[in-house]
Amino acid sequence: MSLFAFYLPRIHYSRLVIKSAIVPVAGHGTRLLPATKSQPKEMLPVARKPIVQYVAEELVQNGIEQILFVTGRNKASIENHFDFDPELTNTLTAANKHDLLNEIGFVDLPAQFFYTRQKMQKGLGDALACGERFAGEEAFVVALGDSILGLHASSRVVSRMTELFLEKRASCVLAVEEVPPTETRHYGVIRPEDNGGDHLRVVDLVEKPDPRDAPSNLAIAGRYVFSPLIFDMLRRVKPDKRGEIQVTDAIRLLCEEGKRVLAIKLTPEERRYDIGNFPSYFETFVEFALADPAYGAEFRLVLERLLAKK
Ligand code: UTP
Repeated sequence: MSLFAFYLPRIHYSRLVIKSAIVPVAGHGTRLLPATKSQPKEMLPVARKPIVQYVAEELVQNGIEQILFVTGRNKASIENHFDFDPELTNTLTAANKHDLLNEIGFVDLPAQFFYTRQKMQKGLGDALACGERFAGEEAFVVALGDSILGLHASSRVVSRMTELFLEKRASCVLAVEEVPPTETRHYGVIRPEDNGGDHLRVVDLVEKPDPRDAPSNLAIAGRYVFSPLIFDMLRRVKPDKRGEIQVTDAIRLLCEEGKRVLAIKLTPEERRYDIGNFPSYFETFVEFALADPAYGAEFRLVLERLLAKK
Protein backbone atom coordinates (compact mmCIF):
# COMPACT_ATOMS: atom_id res chain seq x y z
CA MET A 1 0.00 0.00 0.00
CA SER A 2 1.39 3.41 -0.86
CA LEU A 3 1.78 6.04 1.85
CA PHE A 4 -0.68 8.17 -0.09
CA ALA A 5 -3.45 5.71 0.78
CA PHE A 6 -3.31 6.81 4.42
CA TYR A 7 -4.26 10.34 3.43
CA LEU A 8 -7.32 9.38 1.36
CA PRO A 9 -10.56 10.50 3.00
CA ARG A 10 -12.62 7.62 4.42
CA ILE A 11 -15.59 7.13 2.15
CA HIS A 12 -18.75 5.45 3.25
CA TYR A 13 -18.96 3.21 0.19
CA SER A 14 -15.77 1.27 -0.14
CA ARG A 15 -16.37 0.42 -3.81
CA LEU A 16 -17.22 3.22 -6.18
CA VAL A 17 -19.46 1.05 -8.29
CA ILE A 18 -22.57 -0.78 -7.17
CA LYS A 19 -22.49 -4.45 -8.12
CA SER A 20 -25.13 -6.11 -5.92
CA ALA A 21 -28.89 -6.35 -6.19
CA ILE A 22 -31.61 -7.86 -4.05
CA VAL A 23 -34.67 -9.18 -5.89
CA PRO A 24 -37.60 -9.98 -3.59
CA VAL A 25 -39.75 -12.76 -5.05
CA ALA A 26 -41.31 -14.22 -1.91
CA GLY A 27 -44.80 -12.66 -2.07
CA HIS A 28 -47.94 -14.80 -2.23
CA GLY A 29 -49.22 -13.15 -5.41
CA THR A 30 -52.82 -13.49 -4.25
CA ARG A 31 -54.09 -11.07 -6.88
CA LEU A 32 -53.09 -13.59 -9.56
CA LEU A 33 -54.81 -16.65 -8.06
CA PRO A 34 -55.40 -19.34 -9.19
CA ALA A 35 -52.37 -18.99 -11.53
CA THR A 36 -50.11 -18.50 -8.51
CA LYS A 37 -51.52 -21.29 -6.32
CA SER A 38 -48.37 -23.41 -6.67
CA GLN A 39 -46.10 -21.39 -8.94
CA PRO A 40 -44.42 -18.05 -8.38
CA LYS A 41 -45.98 -15.07 -10.14
CA GLU A 42 -42.43 -14.04 -11.06
CA MET A 43 -42.22 -17.20 -13.22
CA LEU A 44 -45.35 -16.41 -15.26
CA PRO A 45 -44.38 -15.89 -18.90
CA VAL A 46 -44.54 -12.56 -20.66
CA ALA A 47 -44.33 -13.50 -24.34
CA ARG A 48 -41.43 -15.98 -24.39
CA LYS A 49 -39.71 -15.49 -21.04
CA PRO A 50 -40.66 -15.64 -17.38
CA ILE A 51 -40.86 -12.21 -15.78
CA VAL A 52 -37.94 -12.78 -13.43
CA GLN A 53 -35.61 -13.49 -16.39
CA TYR A 54 -36.31 -10.00 -17.78
CA VAL A 55 -35.50 -8.57 -14.35
CA ALA A 56 -32.18 -10.46 -14.08
CA GLU A 57 -31.21 -9.50 -17.65
CA GLU A 58 -32.00 -5.84 -16.99
CA LEU A 59 -29.84 -5.87 -13.84
CA VAL A 60 -26.89 -7.46 -15.67
CA GLN A 61 -27.23 -4.87 -18.49
CA ASN A 62 -26.96 -2.24 -15.77
CA GLY A 63 -23.69 -3.56 -14.38
CA ILE A 64 -24.96 -5.78 -11.58
CA GLU A 65 -22.75 -8.81 -10.90
CA GLN A 66 -24.39 -10.50 -7.95
CA ILE A 67 -28.07 -11.01 -7.36
CA LEU A 68 -29.76 -12.24 -4.20
CA PHE A 69 -33.27 -13.63 -4.70
CA VAL A 70 -35.36 -13.51 -1.55
CA THR A 71 -37.61 -16.50 -2.10
CA GLY A 72 -40.17 -18.48 -0.14
CA ARG A 73 -42.11 -21.72 -0.24
CA ASN A 74 -43.26 -22.71 -3.77
CA LYS A 75 -40.50 -20.61 -5.33
CA ALA A 76 -37.94 -23.35 -6.13
CA SER A 77 -38.67 -23.06 -9.87
CA ILE A 78 -36.92 -19.65 -9.86
CA GLU A 79 -33.67 -21.24 -8.69
CA ASN A 80 -34.12 -24.08 -11.20
CA HIS A 81 -34.72 -21.62 -14.04
CA PHE A 82 -31.29 -19.98 -13.59
CA ASP A 83 -29.51 -23.30 -13.11
CA PHE A 84 -27.55 -25.17 -15.80
CA ASP A 85 -29.42 -28.27 -17.01
CA PRO A 86 -26.89 -30.75 -18.45
CA GLU A 87 -29.55 -33.24 -19.60
CA LEU A 88 -31.52 -30.66 -21.59
CA THR A 89 -28.30 -29.18 -22.99
CA ASN A 90 -27.08 -32.64 -24.13
CA THR A 91 -30.43 -33.48 -25.71
CA LEU A 92 -30.56 -30.21 -27.68
CA THR A 93 -26.89 -30.56 -28.70
CA ALA A 94 -27.41 -34.15 -29.91
CA ALA A 95 -30.44 -33.02 -31.92
CA ASN A 96 -28.48 -30.09 -33.42
CA LYS A 97 -31.08 -27.66 -32.08
CA HIS A 98 -28.74 -24.69 -31.82
CA ASP A 99 -31.53 -22.12 -31.95
CA LEU A 100 -33.08 -23.69 -28.85
CA LEU A 101 -29.69 -23.92 -27.15
CA ASN A 102 -29.46 -20.16 -27.67
CA GLU A 103 -32.78 -19.76 -25.88
CA ILE A 104 -31.34 -21.30 -22.71
CA GLY A 105 -28.05 -19.41 -23.01
CA PHE A 106 -29.25 -16.96 -20.33
CA VAL A 107 -28.04 -19.44 -17.67
CA ASP A 108 -24.56 -18.11 -18.51
CA LEU A 109 -25.55 -14.54 -17.58
CA PRO A 110 -22.39 -12.91 -16.20
CA ALA A 111 -23.75 -12.67 -12.66
CA GLN A 112 -23.63 -14.85 -9.60
CA PHE A 113 -26.96 -15.85 -8.08
CA PHE A 114 -27.67 -16.27 -4.38
CA TYR A 115 -30.87 -17.38 -2.70
CA THR A 116 -32.31 -16.93 0.76
CA ARG A 117 -35.78 -17.51 2.15
CA GLN A 118 -38.18 -15.12 3.78
CA LYS A 119 -39.79 -17.33 6.42
CA MET A 120 -43.14 -15.54 6.63
CA GLN A 121 -44.50 -13.16 4.01
CA LYS A 122 -44.41 -10.08 6.25
CA GLY A 123 -44.10 -7.50 3.50
CA LEU A 124 -41.50 -6.07 1.15
CA GLY A 125 -39.59 -4.38 4.00
CA ASP A 126 -39.25 -7.72 5.79
CA ALA A 127 -38.10 -9.38 2.54
CA LEU A 128 -35.38 -6.72 2.14
CA ALA A 129 -34.22 -7.24 5.70
CA CYS A 130 -33.39 -10.85 4.69
CA GLY A 131 -30.62 -9.38 2.48
CA GLU A 132 -28.73 -7.54 5.22
CA ARG A 133 -25.76 -9.92 5.43
CA PHE A 134 -25.59 -10.18 1.63
CA ALA A 135 -25.35 -6.39 1.32
CA GLY A 136 -22.81 -6.02 4.14
CA GLU A 137 -21.39 -2.48 4.18
CA GLU A 138 -22.04 -1.84 0.49
CA ALA A 139 -24.77 0.12 -1.28
CA PHE A 140 -27.10 -2.09 -3.32
CA VAL A 141 -29.95 -2.08 -5.82
CA VAL A 142 -33.42 -3.50 -5.16
CA ALA A 143 -35.51 -4.64 -8.13
CA LEU A 144 -39.01 -5.99 -7.61
CA GLY A 145 -39.30 -9.42 -9.18
CA ASP A 146 -42.76 -8.70 -10.59
CA SER A 147 -41.95 -5.51 -12.52
CA ILE A 148 -40.27 -5.16 -15.91
CA LEU A 149 -38.94 -1.73 -16.92
CA GLY A 150 -39.20 -0.89 -20.62
CA LEU A 151 -40.31 -3.05 -23.50
CA HIS A 152 -38.17 -6.21 -23.33
CA ALA A 153 -36.48 -4.84 -20.19
CA SER A 154 -34.61 -2.18 -22.14
CA SER A 155 -34.39 0.33 -19.26
CA ARG A 156 -31.03 1.71 -18.15
CA VAL A 157 -32.48 3.66 -15.24
CA VAL A 158 -30.65 1.48 -12.70
CA SER A 159 -27.29 2.69 -14.11
CA ARG A 160 -28.45 6.30 -13.88
CA MET A 161 -29.66 5.67 -10.32
CA THR A 162 -26.39 4.11 -9.11
CA GLU A 163 -24.37 6.94 -10.71
CA LEU A 164 -26.55 9.56 -9.03
CA PHE A 165 -26.37 7.71 -5.71
CA LEU A 166 -22.57 7.74 -5.72
CA GLU A 167 -22.22 11.26 -7.12
CA LYS A 168 -24.55 12.81 -4.53
CA ARG A 169 -23.60 10.50 -1.66
CA ALA A 170 -27.28 9.71 -1.27
CA SER A 171 -28.88 7.32 1.21
CA CYS A 172 -31.54 6.25 -1.25
CA VAL A 173 -32.44 6.78 -4.90
CA LEU A 174 -35.87 5.78 -6.20
CA ALA A 175 -37.17 5.26 -9.74
CA VAL A 176 -40.51 7.05 -10.06
CA GLU A 177 -43.17 7.15 -12.75
CA GLU A 178 -46.03 9.54 -13.44
CA VAL A 179 -49.38 7.81 -12.90
CA PRO A 180 -52.89 9.15 -13.57
CA PRO A 181 -53.95 11.10 -10.43
CA THR A 182 -56.91 8.71 -9.96
CA GLU A 183 -54.48 5.75 -9.62
CA THR A 184 -52.35 6.94 -6.69
CA ARG A 185 -54.12 4.58 -4.26
CA HIS A 186 -52.25 1.64 -5.81
CA TYR A 187 -48.72 2.95 -5.21
CA GLY A 188 -46.20 4.49 -2.86
CA VAL A 189 -46.21 8.18 -3.86
CA ILE A 190 -43.43 10.74 -3.24
CA ARG A 191 -43.57 14.37 -2.13
CA PRO A 192 -40.86 15.88 -4.31
CA GLU A 193 -38.96 19.11 -4.02
CA ASP A 194 -38.16 20.11 -7.59
CA ASN A 195 -34.59 21.28 -7.95
CA GLY A 196 -34.85 21.85 -11.68
CA GLY A 197 -32.22 19.21 -12.46
CA ASP A 198 -32.41 15.71 -13.83
CA HIS A 199 -33.51 14.34 -10.47
CA LEU A 200 -35.81 15.24 -7.59
CA ARG A 201 -35.23 15.51 -3.86
CA VAL A 202 -37.81 13.43 -1.95
CA VAL A 203 -39.04 15.02 1.28
CA ASP A 204 -41.77 12.54 2.16
CA LEU A 205 -43.67 9.49 0.89
CA VAL A 206 -47.20 8.23 1.34
CA GLU A 207 -48.21 4.60 0.82
CA LYS A 208 -51.30 4.16 -1.39
CA PRO A 209 -52.81 7.66 -0.85
CA ASP A 210 -56.32 8.61 -1.82
CA PRO A 211 -56.06 10.94 -4.87
CA ARG A 212 -57.23 13.87 -2.70
CA ASP A 213 -54.35 13.34 -0.23
CA ALA A 214 -51.64 12.37 -2.72
CA PRO A 215 -48.57 14.63 -2.46
CA SER A 216 -47.89 14.19 -6.23
CA ASN A 217 -48.65 11.74 -9.03
CA LEU A 218 -45.11 10.29 -8.95
CA ALA A 219 -45.26 6.64 -7.92
CA ILE A 220 -42.31 4.48 -6.87
CA ALA A 221 -41.62 2.21 -9.84
CA GLY A 222 -40.04 -0.98 -8.50
CA ARG A 223 -36.34 -0.01 -8.52
CA TYR A 224 -34.37 1.41 -5.57
CA VAL A 225 -30.76 2.03 -4.56
CA PHE A 226 -30.03 1.97 -0.84
CA SER A 227 -27.17 2.49 1.54
CA PRO A 228 -27.05 -0.18 4.28
CA LEU A 229 -28.60 2.45 6.57
CA ILE A 230 -31.97 1.24 5.31
CA PHE A 231 -31.61 -1.89 7.47
CA ASP A 232 -31.49 0.25 10.65
CA MET A 233 -34.63 2.04 9.49
CA LEU A 234 -36.38 -1.26 8.72
CA ARG A 235 -35.72 -2.39 12.29
CA ARG A 236 -37.49 0.75 13.55
CA VAL A 237 -40.57 0.37 11.34
CA LYS A 238 -43.71 -0.95 13.03
CA PRO A 239 -45.85 -3.47 11.10
CA ASP A 240 -48.93 -1.99 9.38
CA LYS A 241 -52.54 -3.11 9.99
CA ARG A 242 -51.93 -6.24 7.90
CA GLY A 243 -48.80 -7.10 9.93
CA GLU A 244 -46.47 -6.14 7.04
CA ILE A 245 -43.25 -4.11 7.22
CA GLN A 246 -43.48 -1.48 4.48
CA VAL A 247 -40.28 -0.32 2.83
CA THR A 248 -41.95 3.06 2.21
CA ASP A 249 -42.09 3.59 5.99
CA ALA A 250 -38.35 2.92 6.23
CA ILE A 251 -37.61 5.41 3.42
CA ARG A 252 -39.83 7.89 5.19
CA LEU A 253 -37.64 7.57 8.29
CA LEU A 254 -34.61 8.37 6.10
CA CYS A 255 -36.42 11.55 4.97
CA GLU A 256 -37.33 12.46 8.56
CA GLU A 257 -33.69 12.10 9.58
CA GLY A 258 -32.69 14.53 6.85
CA LYS A 259 -30.86 11.88 4.81
CA ARG A 260 -30.53 12.48 1.10
CA VAL A 261 -33.38 10.63 -0.65
CA LEU A 262 -33.52 11.31 -4.40
CA ALA A 263 -35.70 10.19 -7.30
CA ILE A 264 -35.24 9.79 -11.04
CA LYS A 265 -38.23 9.76 -13.40
CA LEU A 266 -38.59 6.91 -15.86
CA THR A 267 -38.65 8.00 -19.49
CA PRO A 268 -41.78 6.96 -21.47
CA GLU A 269 -39.68 4.22 -23.19
CA GLU A 270 -38.76 2.63 -19.88
CA ARG A 271 -42.26 2.54 -18.40
CA ARG A 272 -42.98 0.04 -15.67
CA TYR A 273 -44.86 -3.13 -16.53
CA ASP A 274 -46.23 -4.34 -13.19
CA ILE A 275 -47.58 -7.84 -13.64
CA GLY A 276 -49.03 -8.09 -10.12
CA ASN A 277 -52.68 -7.96 -11.25
CA PHE A 278 -54.52 -9.53 -14.18
CA PRO A 279 -55.41 -6.43 -16.26
CA SER A 280 -51.80 -5.27 -16.18
CA TYR A 281 -50.44 -8.80 -16.76
CA PHE A 282 -52.70 -9.32 -19.81
CA GLU A 283 -51.72 -5.93 -21.26
CA THR A 284 -48.01 -6.59 -20.72
CA PHE A 285 -48.19 -10.04 -22.32
CA VAL A 286 -49.99 -8.72 -25.40
CA GLU A 287 -47.65 -5.74 -25.83
CA PHE A 288 -44.52 -7.93 -25.57
CA ALA A 289 -45.99 -10.61 -27.86
CA LEU A 290 -46.88 -7.98 -30.48
CA ALA A 291 -43.27 -6.73 -30.34
CA ASP A 292 -41.80 -10.24 -30.69
CA PRO A 293 -39.42 -10.20 -33.68
CA ALA A 294 -40.38 -13.71 -34.84
CA TYR A 295 -44.07 -14.05 -33.94
CA GLY A 296 -45.29 -10.45 -33.47
CA ALA A 297 -46.55 -9.78 -37.00
CA GLU A 298 -48.54 -13.01 -37.16
CA PHE A 299 -49.94 -12.46 -33.67
CA ARG A 300 -51.10 -8.98 -34.71
CA LEU A 301 -53.19 -10.52 -37.54
CA VAL A 302 -54.72 -13.02 -35.10
CA LEU A 303 -55.60 -10.23 -32.67
CA GLU A 304 -57.13 -8.11 -35.44
CA ARG A 305 -59.21 -11.07 -36.55
CA LEU A 306 -60.38 -11.75 -32.98
CA LEU A 307 -61.20 -8.08 -32.41
CA ALA A 308 -63.18 -7.88 -35.64
CA LYS A 309 -65.46 -10.69 -34.41
CA LYS A 310 -68.72 -9.50 -32.92
P1 UTP B 1 -46.62 -7.27 -3.87
O1 UTP B 1 -46.76 -5.99 -3.14
O2 UTP B 1 -47.20 -7.35 -5.23
O3 UTP B 1 -47.18 -8.44 -2.94
O4 UTP B 1 -45.06 -7.60 -3.94
P2 UTP B 1 -47.50 -9.96 -3.23
O5 UTP B 1 -47.71 -10.61 -1.92
O6 UTP B 1 -46.43 -10.59 -4.11
O7 UTP B 1 -48.83 -9.95 -4.12
P3 UTP B 1 -50.39 -9.87 -3.69
O8 UTP B 1 -50.61 -8.47 -3.18
O9 UTP B 1 -50.67 -10.96 -2.68
O10 UTP B 1 -51.12 -10.12 -4.98
C1 UTP B 1 -44.10 -6.88 -4.70
C2 UTP B 1 -42.81 -7.72 -4.77
O11 UTP B 1 -42.32 -7.97 -3.45
C3 UTP B 1 -42.23 -9.36 -3.18
C4 UTP B 1 -43.14 -10.03 -4.20
O12 UTP B 1 -42.71 -11.35 -4.49
C5 UTP B 1 -43.06 -9.10 -5.40
O13 UTP B 1 -41.99 -9.43 -6.27
N1 UTP B 1 -42.63 -9.62 -1.77
C6 UTP B 1 -43.81 -9.12 -1.27
C7 UTP B 1 -41.82 -10.40 -0.97
O14 UTP B 1 -40.73 -10.86 -1.42
N2 UTP B 1 -42.21 -10.67 0.32
C8 UTP B 1 -43.38 -10.18 0.84
O15 UTP B 1 -43.68 -10.46 2.03
C9 UTP B 1 -44.20 -9.38 0.01
